[in-house]
Amino acid sequence: MHIAVLGTGHMATTLAGGFLAAGDTVTFGSRDPERHADLSAPVVATAEALRDADLVVNALQAAFSLDVLRPLASELAGRVLLDIGNAVTPEFDLLYPEASLGELLQAALPDTRVVKSLNTLPGTITVDPASLAEPTSLFLSGEDSGAKALVASLIVDLGWERSQLIDLGGIATARAAEHYFLLFVAMMQSLHGQPFNIRVVR
Ligand SMILES: NC(=O)c1ccc[n+]([C@@H]2O[C@H](COP(=O)([O-])OP(=O)(O)OC[C@H]3O[C@@H](n4cnc5c(N)ncnc54)[C@H](OP(=O)(O)O)[C@@H]3O)[C@@H](O)[C@H]2O)c1
Repeated sequence: MHIAVLGTGHMATTLAGGFLAAGDTVTFGSRDPERHADLSAPVVATAEALRDADLVVNALQAAFSLDVLRPLASELAGRVLLDIGNAVTPEFDLLYPEASLGELLQAALPDTRVVKSLNTLPGTITVDPASLAEPTSLFLSGEDSGAKALVASLIVDLGWERSQLIDLGGIATARAAEHYFLLFVAMMQSLHGQPFNIRVVR
């Protein structure tokens, strides 16, 4: 699979490392490709990165994602967009307390199939789930079952078992996964920054 990873920061480079190790190909999309020429895959302008992508990962800072992606609606039409963002202020307050970035992206990009996932845990665990002592849980939200299946297969390629993935339902459920960030931050502080994830037990 060819993946366009938008952004060149911590999550973009961490995920790209996992995708490349799984045998996928990656192109990074950036505002300033020349400044990031040393990354593990080609870096091009954001709109250019979308060309030929089987899947697009939004690893931009969440607060700027709508402004960056809305003008690219025609380039994103027909594509699957995996959004990993937690839209919070620098003080870790919710930017969209009555909504979520996932819902707002889907509304702004009606011809794109938005899937929310990978936003509820540290990036290092995303690409190395076995680094935790026990299996943990991941969530998926989105309107399109085919798009969610594509994202699920990508996540399985990163080392997750399908049984660890929980389909929450439509994109409206992204609000639950994004607002979980409040609990995530509280736990991160309580655990003094030690990487962790949650596990849903029935
Ligand atoms: N950090 C984690 O462990 C973690 C875990 C789960 C989810 N997330 C989510 O993943 C996303 C990325 O997080 P990160 O930690 O990788 O952030 P980051 O290191 O700050 O990188 C985000 C990228 O956004 C782009 N960007 C920054 N400011 C921008 C602006 N004003 N306009 C347009 N683009 C801008 C930059 O790409 P260019 O300079 O190349 O354009 C940058 O590389 C966030 O939404 C975050 O909530 C993070």
